[in-house]
Amino acid sequence: MTLQSAGQDVFGIESQLSETRVFAPNAAFAKQAHIGSMEQYTREWERSISDPEAFWGQVAKQLHWFKPWNKVLEWKAPDAKWFLGGKTNLAYNCIDRQVKAGRGNDIAIIWEGEPLPNGKPEVRRLTYADALAETSRCANALKAMGVKKGDIVTIYMPMVPELAIACLACVRIGAAHSVIFGGFSSSAIVDRVVDAKSKVIITADGGWRRGGIVPLKDNVDEACKGTDLIKHVLVLKRTAQDVAWTNGRDMWWHDAVDKASADCPCEEMDAEDLAFVLYTSGTTGKPKGIMHTTGGYMVYTYLTSKLTFDLHAPSPGAPSKQVYWCTADVGWITGHSYIIYGIMPNGVPTLMFEGAPNFPDAGRFWDMVQRHRVTHFYTAPTAIRAFMKWGDQWPKKHDLSSLQLLGTVGEPINPEAWMWYHNLIGGQKCPIVDTWWQTETGGHMITPLPGAIPTKPGSCTVPFFGVDAAIVNEKGEEMPANTGGLLAIRKPWPSMLRGILGDRERFIETYWSTIKTKDGTPYYKAGDGARRDSDSYFWVMGRIDDVINVSGHRIGTMEVESALVGHEAVVEAAVVGMPHEIKGTGIAAFCTLAPGVHVDDALRERLRSHVAKDIGPFAKPDVLRFTDALPKTRSGKIMRRLLRDIASGKAQVGDTTTLEDYSVLAKLKESEEG
Ligand code: WTA
Repeated sequence: MTLQSAGQDVFGIESQLSETRVFAPNAAFAKQAHIGSMEQYTREWERSISDPEAFWGQVAKQLHWFKPWNKVLEWKAPDAKWFLGGKTNLAYNCIDRQVKAGRGNDIAIIWEGEPLPNGKPEVRRLTYADALAETSRCANALKAMGVKKGDIVTIYMPMVPELAIACLACVRIGAAHSVIFGGFSSSAIVDRVVDAKSKVIITADGGWRRGGIVPLKDNVDEACKGTDLIKHVLVLKRTAQDVAWTNGRDMWWHDAVDKASADCPCEEMDAEDLAFVLYTSGTTGKPKGIMHTTGGYMVYTYLTSKLTFDLHAPSPGAPSKQVYWCTADVGWITGHSYIIYGIMPNGVPTLMFEGAPNFPDAGRFWDMVQRHRVTHFYTAPTAIRAFMKWGDQWPKKHDLSSLQLLGTVGEPINPEAWMWYHNLIGGQKCPIVDTWWQTETGGHMITPLPGAIPTKPGSCTVPFFGVDAAIVNEKGEEMPANTGGLLAIRKPWPSMLRGILGDRERFIETYWSTIKTKDGTPYYKAGDGARRDSDSYFWVMGRIDDVINVSGHRIGTMEVESALVGHEAVVEAAVVGMPHEIKGTGIAAFCTLAPGVHVDDALRERLRSHVAKDIGPFAKPDVLRFTDALPKTRSGKIMRRLLRDIASGKAQVGDTTTLEDYSVLAKLKESEEG
C-alpha cells in the first residue's frame, strides 16, 4: 500500500491522501449482475452519451405510460424537458404496475419501528395490494380535504410506512409533496410551508427516537401560529400521547383515511408535471425548494436503483431473494429516491426503520440485518465511523452472511471507514457502491456498478449512464489528472432539478453561472470540489461553497449564522465547517457578543438550544468561540478560510495579507472553547 499526499490546488481544495488499493468486482457477483464487466459498462456509457434519446427511450419503455412520449429530450439550457407529451404516474409504477403483474401478495415494504418496551421489535409487512389500498384511501382523504392536482402538500412524519404511503398518495392524485425531515423545528416548517403555499400538513402525534418521543404534532401546532395558510392537519396516531387538538383543522388519520374508499384511479401526469419539492440548504438565504418532475425522475431513479444496487425483481408470487435496506430518512432525497421511488418499481422489498442506530444498543442495525436477512445495505459514512468507534463486537455478534452489497452516500468516505465496512460488515465479499449525488441530481451520478467497476476506497469511481461529469475550472476547461477543480455535469440527465420553486434567478445564479465556457455551453456546477486520478476515477473532496455536510446532513453555514444572530446575546456570527471524527464535518461558530454578556458554559448551552429551536437539533454548533471581532478584509468580508484554519486547529493559517486588523487573529486563536 502506498500513500501519497496530493497537496493543495488552485481552488484551495485540500486533496486528501490518495489511495492506491483496488478491489476487483467479486466474480460470482459479476456473473449474475445486470452489468457484468468494465467493457459492458464502457460500451453502454458511450451509447448513453452519444445517443441519449435512444438510450433513455429504451429504459423508459420498461415502465408504464398511459400515453407514450413524442420526444425524449428537449434541451434549452438550463431547461431540460424529458419524455415530452408522455403521461404517467409515479405511484402507478411503484404499486399498481406490480399488482397488475401478479405481485399483489408480494412484500413491497417491510417496516421495523423502535423496539417496544418489552424489547420486541415491532414489524409490519405491506404487500403491493396493501400499499395500493392504503395509498388510495389516503389519496381519497386528501381529495376530501380539497387537495387538487398542482397543490403542494407538506409531510412532516416519523419513519413509519404511512410516510411512504402519504408521499405515494400525493403523487397518485397529482399533488406534489414537500417532505420535511422530522428533525426540523417549527420555524423551519413555517418557512417551507409559506414558500410552498401548502394548505395541508400530514403529521403524527409523535415519533419514537431513542426511547423518547419527537413532538411532531406540537411542532406543527407551533408552526401554525406562524402562518395562517394551513387549513387541514392530518394526524397519524403513532405514540398515543395526548396532543393538543384544533377542531375543524385537525383530523385523525384513522378517521379520515381508514374510512375512505380504497378505489382511487391515478391522475395521468404529464412527464414534466411537478412530482415533489424538497428543500435543501444553499450558500445564501433560506433553504431552496428543489423541484423534481415526474417522468425523468421516475425513469432515472428506477434505472440507478436497478443497476447501482443490481436489483432483480422476483417472479410474481415468488419470495424475493433480495431484501434492500436504506437507513436514510424519507425526509432527505436519499429516502425519496432510494427507499420509495426508485426501489418499488424494481419489485424488491424495501425496508424502512424508525429509531436510531444505537438504541436500544449499538447492535440495532446488525440485529436487523440478521433478522430480516438483508442482502443490500445502504447507509452514510458518518454511521460507519460511529460503528467503528462503538467497537467490532457489535457487528461480530450478529450473522451478517445474508449481505451481498453495501452502499454509502452523503459525504466522502475515508479509506479507513471503507476498509472497515468492507472487512467487518461485508466479510470482504460484498461490493461497495460509494454513490455521489445530490438533492438536485435526483439520483446517483457517479458510482461504481457493482459487477463491473473495480473500486478504490474513498473514490465514487465513474459516472452513471448518461452522465457527462468532468472536473473543470471556471472557464469550463478540464483539469489535468490529479488536479482539483469544480465538479461539473456537461449534459442534461433525466432526473435533474427543473428549478428552485419560485426563484428562477437563484436557480441560474447557483448552478449555471459560475462556469463560463468559451463557446457558451452551459455546465451544471455541483458545488463540490473533486479531482480525477490517472484512471479517470472521481474523488470528491467536499463542498466548495458555504454548505457543510454534517453527518451527511446538508446545512448552510448562513442558516446557522442567522439563527445565532437571532439570539439577543449575539451581535455577529461566522460559521464554518471543521473536521470531526464521526460527523465528517462539525460546525464551528465564531460569535461577537452584545456588551455585558457573560461568557460561560450556560451561554454556550443557551445558544446551542437556540439553534436547535430555530433549525433543528442536528444543526447545533459543536464548537462555539467568542471574540471581540471577526477577521475581515478591508472591504468588510469575513475571512472564512482563515476561520476554517483556526477551527481545524492548523498551526499556520492561510493567506492573511488582506486582513484588516491583525490583532483579531491573535485573539481568535485564544478564544478556544474551554
Ligand atoms: C455530498 C445527498 C462525497 C456532496 C444524496 C454533495 C458526497 C452533497 C457523496 C449533497 C459521496 C453526497 N461522496 N460526497 N458519495 N454523496 N455527497 O443534497 O458534497 O443532501 O454535494 O444529497 O453531499 O447532499 P444532499
